[in-house]
Amino acid sequence: MSDSDNKMDKIVSLAKRRGFVFPGSEIYGGQAGVYDFGPNGVELLNNIKRLWWKANVYDKENVYGVDAGMFKHPRVWDASGHTSGFSDPIVECRDTQTRLRVDKELEAVGVTADEKMSVEELQTLFDEHKDEIAKRNNLSGNFTPVRAFNLLVKSNLGDFMDDGAEPVYLPGEACQGIYLNYKNVLDTMSPKLPFGMAQIGKAFRNEISPRNWLFRCREFEQADTQTFVKPNENKTEFEQIKQARMDWYVSLGINPDNLRFKQHDNLVFYASDAWDIEYNYPTLGWDELEGIHDRTDYDLKQHMEFSGTDLTYLDPDTNERYIPWILETSVGLGRMFAAVLADAYYEEELEDGKTRTVLKLHPDLAPYRVAVSPLLKNKPQLVEKAREVFTMLKAEFGNVAWDDNGNVGKRYRRQDEIGTPHCVVIDFDTLGEETPELKDTVTVRDRDTGEQQRVAIADLANFLQ
Ligand code: GAP
Repeated sequence: MSDSDNKMDKIVSLAKRRGFVFPGSEIYGGQAGVYDFGPNGVELLNNIKRLWWKANVYDKENVYGVDAGMFKHPRVWDASGHTSGFSDPIVECRDTQTRLRVDKELEAVGVTADEKMSVEELQTLFDEHKDEIAKRNNLSGNFTPVRAFNLLVKSNLGDFMDDGAEPVYLPGEACQGIYLNYKNVLDTMSPKLPFGMAQIGKAFRNEISPRNWLFRCREFEQADTQTFVKPNENKTEFEQIKQARMDWYVSLGINPDNLRFKQHDNLVFYASDAWDIEYNYPTLGWDELEGIHDRTDYDLKQHMEFSGTDLTYLDPDTNERYIPWILETSVGLGRMFAAVLADAYYEEELEDGKTRTVLKLHPDLAPYRVAVSPLLKNKPQLVEKAREVFTMLKAEFGNVAWDDNGNVGKRYRRQDEIGTPHCVVIDFDTLGEETPELKDTVTVRDRDTGEQQRVAIADLANFLQ
């Protein structure tokens, strides 16, 4: 196993051990492709969402947030093309019922399977490499023919006849909620082009082989912006949006060497340009973190045709009516979460020969801003003073940990693994009985350097800010 293989395994294990991410429905043996965020994970996830919203809504003048209902009219997914075209090629091993996603299997043996290829073309390629694919999956090679498997997840909402005649789908992508509310935003907020809409929403896909932890799930969350622009006049905006998204990752402390742009070679028929921001994940290597797409007028044109509702925009400057083009950014928050953890994960050799694991998370992302401890938990005076400091910092920051478990060394190790930037310890000097000059000061330990310094309680909040 290479170093980087090891690193991803270690991150997944730390994420479970320290309450970041648990396998879904674990006590029942698990639910493939679904993960639950634990107490520390939900804090990190919420911090990512909060900073994404700040960068994409609050820091802009003309971006409007929405939070659309999960269930949508069945025609929405016809208009978007999902009912007819949102599929992955699948084969099944007749002997073991193992299902494989054909394009990914071909990729794994060095063959690029184009998204636009027909089932017949994929079948030909699959037949050529069947033995190799069977071998790498430990299968006999007795496969069913390749078929297209639709990834939309059906529900029985409103299906009182129980006949499944017109299924209501769970969202295959979150952005449809934005398109459905574009007219509402035009009518209520009267924005002028170019303007944007933003949403964080869940998506569900019947992924054939969910894998790589949070990377390919059946349930996940997407943070999307859709910028509505004048047709054909968007190259500058597209470039600005692309760069702003890259800069945002770097502003969160992600190493720029682990980020890159990649342009799509094969565009879907309606797109005029498409890029990915890729992250260099341990084990996986470079793979898509976020998609940035020029979707032309496809989405609004489709919804206008299928709904019969006029979705054109009246340009107040020219008096022209047209369907705006859409520039989309869409990041899966699980992939973002995995990239943040991977980038912050360090193992460091200590002087005593032991290794410490530390998450060097940006302070705005860390689940806890600071942890507060009494040096000894069985000394009431220390505990009382530590409680005072804890209450004061909690009022200031909110996300403050109380940690009195084990000795101080163990607490530091634990908080390092959670990524808490500072630990504050209330000790006998704080009480000032033998060292009056240190009364009402505390030890503050820095996560990244391990250095400790004395800070007056009165200055503590400022110091931590
Ligand atoms: N509205 C455009 C759209 O949904 P996409 O490339 O299918 O495009 C956008 O998805 C982002 O959602 C991806 O860049 C990725 O971060 C995330 N994503 C897609 N499929 C995913 C899955 N099965 N599990 C986790 N994240 C996923």
